Amino acid sequence: MGWERSVPVDKVRVALIGCGRVARVHAAALARSSEATLALAVDIRPERAEAFAAQYGCQAETDWEKAINRSDIDAVEICTPHYLHAPMTIAAAEHGKHILTEKPMALRPSDADAMIRAAKEHGVTLGVIFQNRYNTASQAARQAVDSGEIGEIRGARAFLTWNRSDEYYSHSDWKGTWDKEGGGVLIDQAIHTLDLVQWLMGPAESVTATYDTRNHDMINVDDVAEATIRFQSGATASLYANCYYPYDADVFVELVGTKGMIRVIKDVAQIKVGNETRIVDPVTDPDQPTLGPGYWGQSHRLQINDFYRSVREGTRPYIDGEEGKKAMELVLAMYQSARLGAPVTLPLVEPLLPPEAKKLKRVPARVGAE
Ligand SMILES: NC(=O)c1ccc[n+]([C@@H]2O[C@H](COP(=O)([O-])OP(=O)(O)OC[C@H]3O[C@@H](n4cnc5c(N)ncnc54)[C@H](O)[C@@H]3O)[C@@H](O)[C@H]2O)c1
Repeated sequence: MGWERSVPVDKVRVALIGCGRVARVHAAALARSSEATLALAVDIRPERAEAFAAQYGCQAETDWEKAINRSDIDAVEICTPHYLHAPMTIAAAEHGKHILTEKPMALRPSDADAMIRAAKEHGVTLGVIFQNRYNTASQAARQAVDSGEIGEIRGARAFLTWNRSDEYYSHSDWKGTWDKEGGGVLIDQAIHTLDLVQWLMGPAESVTATYDTRNHDMINVDDVAEATIRFQSGATASLYANCYYPYDADVFVELVGTKGMIRVIKDVAQIKVGNETRIVDPVTDPDQPTLGPGYWGQSHRLQINDFYRSVREGTRPYIDGEEGKKAMELVLAMYQSARLGAPVTLPLVEPLLPPEAKKLKRVPARVGAE
């Protein structure tokens, strides 16, 4: 079907489901949106929903199923634990609500497909948050690739080395679990980096990966992983990620082409062609406050406003379900490859192998902030 959608005339009335850490950034973005407004804060913990309602002048609700039944709600923003994204999206679509879900959109490819199908069948718009595609540096990098400025891409490397302490996991009832988070550093943190790599490199063909739990006492999801991604173009990308580095170091992505190369370091791009290097700095808006920790990037508000513009115009959102599925599928293929000890070809064929039950090593406490 095309993109004929139910189009709200006034600002889109949003229910924010899950009022935890990232939801603060969503609420602040909605408070400044020209396209949408926060109408309802929903959290299973009443004190969280009420605190959001008091701060943002909206209503509070503890039952997300009641929220999607309301006729005065046009859309939901899903900021809940990963395993809830698929059932909440599908139910919201069935109730005619547009959906913007946080990454990863799901924990299985079949769930992602069901989400995409539900949105199409019910004529609602589905978007997936990958805000870093909106960064000025990412856009400049993509333009340098698309214009042919750096030539044919030969290869890429990407590093993410952040710090997530044992306390980060022990303070959460879902992080660090295979069933609720769906993995560790790959599916939660490195997925953003992978999304940028695949968005710049084009369709992936196969993945070979390993992961381990090396430096956390109380989780058995991956806290370190490495992967080689082979693309349909013939180029390969290498990824290394861990979440036990002493601090949240700047994410590094480099693409090498036949005519030049691109480096994106956090939110700055260096584009080198011949002897010339162009630096693309982030554009800062003095009227916009910094939202969330710096390592999340500052582009949530751009994606959120853009998503609701596409809802109101009835057009395809910049990062729709199909786009949102790509990095998720790569991550799941990496887990599958590590469990098989072999390359995995895309698209990923289910069923996924379950993670091995691991006996955790006890290591001395480390220095490092969350
Ligand atoms: N894009 C980014 O840069 C970014 C950054 C951080 C987190 N995230 C994503 O945001 C999502 C949430 O992460 P977080 O760190 O904010 O988690 P969190 O644990 O801080 O918040 C989750 C909230 O969901 C609520 N919740 C759980 N079950 C619920 C239910 N059945 N109904 C209603 N509410 C429910 C919890 O009470 C909690 O308040 C995840 O998908 C995560 O990957 C994205």
